Amino acid sequence: MNDQRDLPTRRGLLKTVAATAAVSIPILSAEASGRPGQNLFPDGFLWGAATAGHQVEGNNVNSDLWQIEHVTPTLFDEPSGDACDSLNRWQTDIDLVKTIGLNSYRFSLEWARIEPAESEFSIAMLDFYQRMVAACHARGITPLVTFNHFSAPRWFAARGGWESAGSADLYARYCDRVTRHMGDLLVYASTLNEPDLLLGMKWIPQNKLPPNFYATQSAMLAAAGTATNSKNFSVANFGAAETKLANMLEGHKKAYAAIKNVSPAVEVGVNLAIDDDQAVGPNSMRDQRRESVYGAWLEAAKTGDFIGVQNYERRRLDDKGIMPPPTGARLTESGSEFYPDSLEGAVRYAHEATGLPVIVTENGINAADDTLRQAFIPLAVSSLHSAIASGVPVKGYVHWSLIDNWEWVSGYKPRYGLATVDRTNFQRTLKPSAAVLGKIAKNNAV
Ligand code: FCB
Repeated sequence: MNDQRDLPTRRGLLKTVAATAAVSIPILSAEASGRPGQNLFPDGFLWGAATAGHQVEGNNVNSDLWQIEHVTPTLFDEPSGDACDSLNRWQTDIDLVKTIGLNSYRFSLEWARIEPAESEFSIAMLDFYQRMVAACHARGITPLVTFNHFSAPRWFAARGGWESAGSADLYARYCDRVTRHMGDLLVYASTLNEPDLLLGMKWIPQNKLPPNFYATQSAMLAAAGTATNSKNFSVANFGAAETKLANMLEGHKKAYAAIKNVSPAVEVGVNLAIDDDQAVGPNSMRDQRRESVYGAWLEAAKTGDFIGVQNYERRRLDDKGIMPPPTGARLTESGSEFYPDSLEGAVRYAHEATGLPVIVTENGINAADDTLRQAFIPLAVSSLHSAIASGVPVKGYVHWSLIDNWEWVSGYKPRYGLATVDRTNFQRTLKPSAAVLGKIAKNNAV
């Protein structure tokens, strides 16, 4: 973990930070200089891949998720365990980003490592994440740092998580502490990852959820409460969304203020899960879904420098709600429709609702068969280009994921990575789809 290469050298770093921070929203010079038939992206466009701490680092033992992975009953197919051992192999991961030909890397900080007990901040772990950010700069890679990607410290969950008074202040204190420690190394920061996800769950028909989902969820949280001596153990992505909403919105606002207060030049936003919601027939519930899932978050996101869009699918809605995929549609391994064009609609909607520049902070496909991903990437990126060509300011495209990893309740089964990870020795091997994305990135065109 302690590699001389990765120690921050301030002059070099400042240069890179200045260069990356200067990326502005350009007017598309489409077709101006590219080869015929090529769709050019704006100069300085960010091409990246993403991971999240709990999904790749391994042994995040002080987190709320580790707790609920290990109770009976649990909704998790398998515990996260060693994950991809990125806690030790993070340099290999950043090197992979570089090898693919990408110029940015999105990853997250684990609050549970930085503040493993309330008010006890770990300088060693703050140093660790600082080295990661510095290592990106040293390799000419722009870091996109997510301050919280679903998992939180166990003590935070045990005191009621986002349902408890004071949660927003506790979160903002952590953000303040991290930002101070990072000095001037941060460029892009996201306050929260998909805080709207749980709101979206309510629209999923019960028969699409695992059997006894809600009963098991309650029993799992109760068991975690017993294990931690807590009467109100609460985690972000399970339980009732409404009870957390006000505090999470406040958490975003206070986190934004905390980061900007220390480092005004950092571009700060929130990353939302946004489907391409399409209205079908009369009295479609499309707008009702949009309002109930994204409404409050899009409003809150306006206090921000960009909006992070995380899109995986389209949803067709008629007057009864979400419709199944059209008959005969090709499905992904998640059971959703193969529909790469959804990116355009999601990005357009996010921009129109907020007026903000967009960064696609996640887009990808669950596919054990990599040929599907090889087909998916150029189609998704082309649909993104259509949005840009029609005037939507988009600053980057970050693919989920850099590596196959632990996908929450589904464990290690889903395959979203541009690289495989051998579960016996953690060796990473790039898939052909990595070259597909790498070529687009190097040409800055599709
Ligand atoms: C998103 C999550 C990300 C990953 C992808 C597949 O909802 O942000 O961590 O699990 O889905």
